[in-house]
Amino acid sequence: MPTVPPLDIDATVVDICRQHANAPADLIEILHDLQEQIGHVPQSALPTIATALNLSRAEVHGVVSFYHDFREKPAGAVTVKICRAEACQSMGALPLIERICARHGVQLGGTSADGRITVEAVYCLGNCALSPAALVNDKPVGRINDERLNAAIRGAMS
Ligand code: FES
Repeated sequence: MPTVPPLDIDATVVDICRQHANAPADLIEILHDLQEQIGHVPQSALPTIATALNLSRAEVHGVVSFYHDFREKPAGAVTVKICRAEACQSMGALPLIERICARHGVQLGGTSADGRITVEAVYCLGNCALSPAALVNDKPVGRINDERLNAAIRGAMS
């Protein structure tokens, strides 16, 4: 069986920064590109980004930590994003989030020990009419309850 060579994160970062002409103004796009390519934005990549863009590490770290979209570690096989903004809260999103986290043994914003599921909170998916709303592997699921959400998760895992 052929082996897959390990991903050279530094080379990937340098390549992405070059695609953006090492422009500091493109920092957020660069971070998004990195997360899209390798699934997360590891701390180890930040010094390379800072050097390429001629920014301080603190500036890069500040942006990464400000935006909740960026993950420091790879997500699980299934990513569940549950809206906790006002309309969804009023329809029971918060206890639903607690139950789904307990069911899968995961902290909100984290990934289960077996790597099967990541549960994250988001703020309005633009699907308020079908609140409470979620995304399961980026697929919208509206009017979620335990049953509907667990069915969507099972579907994404199979
Ligand atoms: S408030 Fe939840 S989708 Fe808008």
